[in-house]
Amino acid sequence: MQEENKRFVERDRNWHPPAYAPGYKTSVARSPQQALVSMQKPTVSELSGPDFRHLRMGPHDNDLLLNFTQGQGLPQGERIIMFGRVVDQFGKPVPHTLVEMWQANAGGRYRHKNDRYLAPLDPNFGGVGRCLTDDQGWYRFRTIKPGPYPWPNDMNSWRPSHIHVSVMGPSISTRLITQMYFEGDPLIPLCPIVNTIKDRDAVETMIGRLDMARSNPMDCLAYRFDLVVRGELQTYFENQ
Ligand SMILES: [Fe+2]
Repeated sequence: MQEENKRFVERDRNWHPPAYAPGYKTSVARSPQQALVSMQKPTVSELSGPDFRHLRMGPHDNDLLLNFTQGQGLPQGERIIMFGRVVDQFGKPVPHTLVEMWQANAGGRYRHKNDRYLAPLDPNFGGVGRCLTDDQGWYRFRTIKPGPYPWPNDMNSWRPSHIHVSVMGPSISTRLITQMYFEGDPLIPLCPIVNTIKDRDAVETMIGRLDMARSNPMDCLAYRFDLVVRGELQTYFENQ
């Protein structure tokens, strides 16, 4: 590790959304009711693992067009490639780390027993995927663009199209859970969850960018979404 990577970087609470944000109503009950406990020193196991290199991925784990149907049919919707690079806060690529994602189908419906939205399930779409980054920190999924969906918050709240992402980073203590939005979506600035983030530059980092150079002509559009996690010496995220 280079010397510059040993800096201690405190979490920027103006960059990350606050746990308590009344405009996002469920955050009121979910947020801590008492002062946070400072955890000064992570343990060795928290900083050194897990090592995912032994994980055996299925052939279609990162291909949501095929991983639910087993080749029996294709899902409805816009075919897309989602790809990017996982780097730490110092710009160092994070190789062999686990990237997991989950999403609604093209109609905005999740394959989950608690999702009662009117839009139908797609028999050929499950909505979950995973992969490991390569030697240079790159990951890639093939999927369909999820639809927006309404949710009970204000009178008429809609989630922009989004893909949920979990990335582990250098160790379990760097795990980050976030969402990718899609460039140009007019619902992004209207979303109460997006609007818990005060810094517009921080919101911009959550928007996947159309990348025509990485699209497949007559097949898929491509969106690039880079993920930045904390370095090997980092403070704790609230989602631990
Ligand atoms: Fe969602």
